[in-house]
Amino acid sequence: MNDETSAVPPPAPDAQPPPAAVPHRRRPHYRGDHPRRFTEKYKERAPERYAETVAKVLASGKTPAGTHRPIMVAEVLAALAPQPGEVAVDCTLGYGGHARELLARLQPGGRLLGLDVDPIELPKTEARLRALGFGPALFTAQHSNFAGLPRVLAGFGLAGADCILADLGVSSMQLDDPARGFTAKFTGPLDLRMNPQRGQPASALLAKIKSGDFAVLLAENADEPHADLLGEALAGRVLAATTDLARAVRKALPRLNREDGELTVRRVFQALRIAVNDEFSALDTFLRVLPSCLNPGGRVAVLTFHSGEDRRVKKAFVNGLRAGDYAAITPDIIRPSPDERVANSRSAPAKLRWAQKIPGAR
Ligand SMILES: C[S@@+](CC[C@H](N)C(=O)[O-])C[C@H]1O[C@@H](n2cnc3c(N)ncnc32)[C@H](O)[C@@H]1O
Repeated sequence: MNDETSAVPPPAPDAQPPPAAVPHRRRPHYRGDHPRRFTEKYKERAPERYAETVAKVLASGKTPAGTHRPIMVAEVLAALAPQPGEVAVDCTLGYGGHARELLARLQPGGRLLGLDVDPIELPKTEARLRALGFGPALFTAQHSNFAGLPRVLAGFGLAGADCILADLGVSSMQLDDPARGFTAKFTGPLDLRMNPQRGQPASALLAKIKSGDFAVLLAENADEPHADLLGEALAGRVLAATTDLARAVRKALPRLNREDGELTVRRVFQALRIAVNDEFSALDTFLRVLPSCLNPGGRVAVLTFHSGEDRRVKKAFVNGLRAGDYAAITPDIIRPSPDERVANSRSAPAKLRWAQKIPGAR
């Protein structure tokens, strides 16, 4: 008789009881070939396990979900010229792409402070950079608004920095996470705050604002050509979800074709984002205190993504040159190369400006 059970060896004397069964959890499924929702993009979010999928997303000029691709890295490094032993501040740490390149060039003996207002992504980026071997003597992550840069430097006993970088706006991690409500591409709460622990979500601002004030906000923050009409149609509305706002915008401007409608929705989101995060006032404060935060001969580079930001940076650098704070400033804006624009579509609107503090001046 062939008794299969007799072939099973008896348990070893010190054998552990089998682990309690863990209920099996199915992966999120999606219809069709391409995952659409953030939760379905589990392969993109685990590059160590799904390198091939991530490579395909990158090759298509897109950014894998949950990551951010640093923009104009070579140009930023050329402007900042970080040297071993120097002090640098990355005012907008994000995913840490620029920081990683700076850190590699500040060694030995240098130091990088990485600031960000986003309390959700900051600890993840800190852990990622630590895992790459950047220890606490070389790198410090600080939850802070760059408007408070003088206080941050003083807190670390630093008189100034040799290199300062600000890569303005939002990160791809913020944009791609529907729970943060930054885009109409996904349904999510109409929030748009980089720091959800402070201020009010965009839905609350929209519900309270008067039509005239909203029209001004749309014109100033996003150069919106239909500002008055949209101010009338949207101000005071209670719209809880990103997609509710997008629908209301399209309904207010029914004659726009699909592409123009989408651009208008994007501008409305941009205007609200700038307002709820107080972005212009943070940028104005930063640009005002910047010369006092740079060591003599120190360099600053600022990447902007729309005209409202670039106008401010240009004006501050030109005035700083005239006032004798800066020895040199960018003669012309620097744009991403055609190759970078194809390789990373999110780089397309970027503009880089730099300035250098006069040597010998504090
Ligand atoms: C475009 S991303 C930076 C990406 C980063 N250079 C990289 O390579 O990953 C902009 C980041 O700046 C942060 N940020 C925006 N305004 C800020 C402010 N006023 N102070 C500090 N961080 C800010 C955002 O939360 C976001 O993480």
